[in-house]
Amino acid sequence: MKKWSAARAPAGRIAYVNGRYLPHPAAAVHIEDRALQLGDGIYEVCNVIGGRMLDEEPHLDRMERSLRELGIPMPMGRTALKLVMREMIARNRIPDGFLYIQVTRGAVKRDHIPPANGPRPTLIMTMRAQDMAGLNQRLENGIAVSTQPDIRWGRCDIKTVQLLPNLLAKQAARKAGAFEAWLVDPDGYVTEGSSTNAWIVDKHGTVITRDLSNAILPGVTRRVILQALGEAQLNFVQRKFTVAEALGAQEAFLSSATGAAVPVVAIDGQTIGNGRPGALTRRIRELYFAQATVNTGLEKA
Ligand code: PDD
Repeated sequence: MKKWSAARAPAGRIAYVNGRYLPHPAAAVHIEDRALQLGDGIYEVCNVIGGRMLDEEPHLDRMERSLRELGIPMPMGRTALKLVMREMIARNRIPDGFLYIQVTRGAVKRDHIPPANGPRPTLIMTMRAQDMAGLNQRLENGIAVSTQPDIRWGRCDIKTVQLLPNLLAKQAARKAGAFEAWLVDPDGYVTEGSSTNAWIVDKHGTVITRDLSNAILPGVTRRVILQALGEAQLNFVQRKFTVAEALGAQEAFLSSATGAAVPVVAIDGQTIGNGRPGALTRRIRELYFAQATVNTGLEKA
């Protein structure tokens, strides 16, 4: 069998598993991990630019909240967690990419109810590089979205690893020739994308995104964009919008750690605005990066 050593692993192929940094082929979790058997875990995807984490604190805030909601303890304190995150970025030698963090309730004999003095949480991290060519193409041409029924559960505010409805929706969207799915609730309102938050800009230039509730994930990028809009004194409102309203919008875009703000130029095959990425979307993208840079303390003195 081929022997792996961390020193020889190619860039991006080092995983962190419960205290150890291992090349992917050597990295493994227990067969009875509750995320594997029951989907009992949460995750975060964080943007790394120039070897530095963007929006680190809000990601960790959300991680703590997700764990609290599920009654899973933090696997380690925040300071230690940050050290592991930095070590992962350094060891993987990926200056621009994504750090994936997953915490599960741990490994224990399968039962729906975990034991009262539960297992030790499992903490894993992996990294991957940003596909710059793909992202640049999406930014230049914009993307199409396809609306799909939102068939998820009642706690979409928790970032759990249970993503089957999201995957099915994105798969259906890709089949329809679209990049992302916009999920629509039974009343005809857009909740969010399958892995992004959804935004429109109306004829008056007001930026609209759904208000926070159990129906959507509180996106970190969403939060920083709203902060940036406020700082720039641009008009925005957090409220739900219908597919019909989105079709009549001047601009549309989606937000996530994986793409910041990405222009949407078609919904269900119908052109949005002039069918090109909107000027305000481009500005919002720039404002986001400026804000995230300040928030993260990365701005030049
Ligand atoms: N997805 N809504 C959903 C359902 C998401 O899964 C995500 C993130 C977002 C945007 O959140 P943020 O701005 O914090 O990335 C909204 C990640 C990127 C993923 O699943 O890969």
